[in-house]
Amino acid sequence: MTKVIMRHYNYQHGSIIFFVLSIISLEEYFGTFILFFNCKTNIMEFLPDRFKTDKKVVFVTGATGAIGRAIAWNIGRHPDYAVIMLVRNPDKAVKVLDEIRNRSGNEEVYFYIIDLSCKKDIDKLAETYHGPLHVLVNNASTTPRSKQTNNEGIELQWATNVLGYFYMMKAFTPHLKSGTSARIVNVASYWAGGLDLDDPEFMHRQYNNDTAYRQSKQAERMLSTAFASVLSTHNISVNACHPGDVNSNLSNDLGFGGHESPDRGAATPVWLAVDPATGQQTGKYFEHQRESPCQFSTDKALVDRLVTVCESY
Ligand SMILES: NC(=O)c1ccc[n+]([C@@H]2O[C@H](COP(=O)([O-])OP(=O)(O)OC[C@H]3O[C@@H](n4cnc5c(N)ncnc54)[C@H](OP(=O)(O)O)[C@@H]3O)[C@@H](O)[C@H]2O)c1
Repeated sequence: MTKVIMRHYNYQHGSIIFFVLSIISLEEYFGTFILFFNCKTNIMEFLPDRFKTDKKVVFVTGATGAIGRAIAWNIGRHPDYAVIMLVRNPDKAVKVLDEIRNRSGNEEVYFYIIDLSCKKDIDKLAETYHGPLHVLVNNASTTPRSKQTNNEGIELQWATNVLGYFYMMKAFTPHLKSGTSARIVNVASYWAGGLDLDDPEFMHRQYNNDTAYRQSKQAERMLSTAFASVLSTHNISVNACHPGDVNSNLSNDLGFGGHESPDRGAATPVWLAVDPATGQQTGKYFEHQRESPCQFSTDKALVDRLVTVCESY
């Protein structure tokens, strides 16, 4: 039996309204997140009561990007996992969703439209979502060439790459705690350093996207350490990694290309997210599926100060 569901998306930046018609089975209908448009907050919402699954649930942020898409695919192709892609562009999201579903046969791949630079959006999702959550992959990041701010006036790299990761971990800790074990994977980079907690938003120094990016990736690695120590008693592991050098919008904005395939770039985050061999690791930093020393995680005073700064927003 089939049913035609009309999904109505009002594109965030105003004018583009489009319709996606999906023909799906009634059975699937009742198992699917139903999305509807909330005019007030301009984001999609789940009707969470409708979502039931026996699979392990994985959130992947930024799954419309080069590496995020490969992460979502390489997890979603396994029938044991349901993947929720947290993304901001419905056009791209529909394409990635269709591709993963069609190629894998796994119908339990969904997306949710969210601005991950926006605390309100993250809190709203955390309040609304009552399903299980086993793995959170923080991957969405940005590095605009000129200084930009989010809709609350916070410098965009700090808001997305640092506060976005921080709020996702914080807001979804209760969900991750509800199972027997869970994992958080923070996609960071070897290209990291220069964190300036006295001026994280470039109010008193000239903005440079590479400098802002490197400090944000340092902060992500330090936040991984901070959350790992707090969450270890709840059997939630938190690790950070460098994915790989992949050609992407982000790498182009930094003036790089990328010599590795997206699948290669996704290999370490996917390994940390689902491989039984990595389940016991926590508070560590990995490159090419190997633990690598992290000079940023040893300065406990600075890690604590970073958490305090993030809390202050
Ligand atoms: N590429 C590399 O060589 C490389 C190297 C080291 C580390 N990394 C890390 O790998 C991760 C993925 O990077 P990538 O190379 O795949 O970059 P990418 O292709 O530019 O993807 C970035 C993703 O983040 C999403 N995003 C950005 N801001 C967002 C927001 N406010 N709300 C929701 N989504 C947002 C983008 O959405 P849209 O699709 O809508 O733009 C996109 O899906 C990043 O954490 C990056 O730092 C990459």
